[in-house]
Amino acid sequence: MRRAGVAVIAFAAGAAIAASAAGAGNRDLSFAIGKALFERAWVPAPSSTRANDGLGPVFNARACSACHQGLDRAQRMDDGQGGFTHPGMVLKLSDARGAPDPLYGAQLQTAAIAGFVPEGRLVLSEGDLVIGNLGAGPLAPSTHMGLRAAPALRGLGLLASVPDEEILSRADPDDEDGDGVSGRANWVFGADGRKRLGRFGLKASGVTLAEQTEAAFFNDLGMSTPGHSDPAGDCRSQSCRAGPHGGTEAEPEIRGDLVAMLADYLARVPPPAAAKPDGAGEKMFVATGCSSCHVPTLTAPGGEVPAYSDLLLHDLGPGLDGGATEPGVQGGEWRTAPLWGLSRALGAKAGLLHDGRASDVAEAIAHHGGEGAGARARFQALTKADRATLLRYVEGL
Ligand code: HEC
Ligand code: HEC
Repeated sequence: MRRAGVAVIAFAAGAAIAASAAGAGNRDLSFAIGKALFERAWVPAPSSTRANDGLGPVFNARACSACHQGLDRAQRMDDGQGGFTHPGMVLKLSDARGAPDPLYGAQLQTAAIAGFVPEGRLVLSEGDLVIGNLGAGPLAPSTHMGLRAAPALRGLGLLASVPDEEILSRADPDDEDGDGVSGRANWVFGADGRKRLGRFGLKASGVTLAEQTEAAFFNDLGMSTPGHSDPAGDCRSQSCRAGPHGGTEAEPEIRGDLVAMLADYLARVPPPAAAKPDGAGEKMFVATGCSSCHVPTLTAPGGEVPAYSDLLLHDLGPGLDGGATEPGVQGGEWRTAPLWGLSRALGAKAGLLHDGRASDVAEAIAHHGGEGAGARARFQALTKADRATLLRYVEGL
């Protein structure tokens, strides 16, 4: 598909974006193609030219942008029965050690190409999660379920630019300073046994944006990539594995250069606009101990990264145990949620926390247990006026 100086992406029914560029290094072209890939609605393999398709057989959405609408968090919608739902919500499946369900894999795919049945249906009712129509039989008894809401994808290139040492300098896994807040790195082990520091995803298990992108193609769209070469995607049942796909183990549905352009596009999406300075609010944020995890700025070679996260894992206790997890990460452990752009999420009426359960900042704080319990208690002990100062500050980020 890619020839010297020319890149072509085949789109459905033979329509094509063809762009010629001075050379393969053309950054504007790479950005435009990356954006098009992010917004593209993929189709199943047999219905179009083979090279770039192969959606499914089972999947959650046809496009990255279906869940990450406008690169922001999607609005939380009440289901009219006291529960809520969310277009970017997925159900993760794993045992206590992070191993996927033997039949359904690491995620429940709720859609399928024609002629195939979705793995199951996801209904949130009266705050309870109900899954129905499990086509391949029951989940393994050891499988835990956990909802996750799609985060905003802004400023990820800045997160990528933070040196490992900057992140590791704040890790205190054994809480040696005795402040009740530990924070640990998520070391991700490769097939070669080499360990690398994870920082992307809600469990910080993605090492690079390209790897996070590959995992998204595989789990959310059912499409293979060089790093996830099984063309059947996350499904394990025999009928699903026999479905059509657009690639082979040797030639994945999504080639590495397309992954790189998509990751490059995401890396270049700027961070949310900076909040207006608020000295009193910031002081309260620090005094309450929020900043021991939501570190206002990290230092990177290109400048300060005001993400309000240390990019470490913290255990927020049993109340925020997400059920399904990833290898080496406990159910209650999460990457400190970056708070930059929080005003956008609140403006969009997106739910807060990993599964969108909190509708405002005070509710999100009330869910902080474990390492966050001290900060929560200090927040609750503030005078009404100080609490308002702190909330206004956080809501403005
Ligand atoms: C079905 C909904 C869905 C689709 C489709 C989807 N995502 Fe996501 N995305 C999520 C959810 C949910 C998370 C949080 C998952 C986690 O880390 O546990 C996420 C997380 C991410 C992250 C990590 C962000 C961070 O702060 O570290 C990136 C990057 C990302 N997605 C990129 C993509 C790309 C690229 C595509 C398309 C190839 C895509 N996503 C498709 C739901 C979706
Ligand atoms: C021990 C570390 C820690 C401390 C201290 C802490 N947080 Fe958090 N915070 C987290 C983690 C981890 C998450 C993600 C939890 C999840 O997604 O379930 C989070 C999530 C949040 C969220 C939701 C963000 C989103 O995008 O959904 C808000 C708001 C928040 N924290 C505000 C605060 C405030 C305000 C304070 C101080 C009163 C505070 N936090 C103290 C670790 C901490």
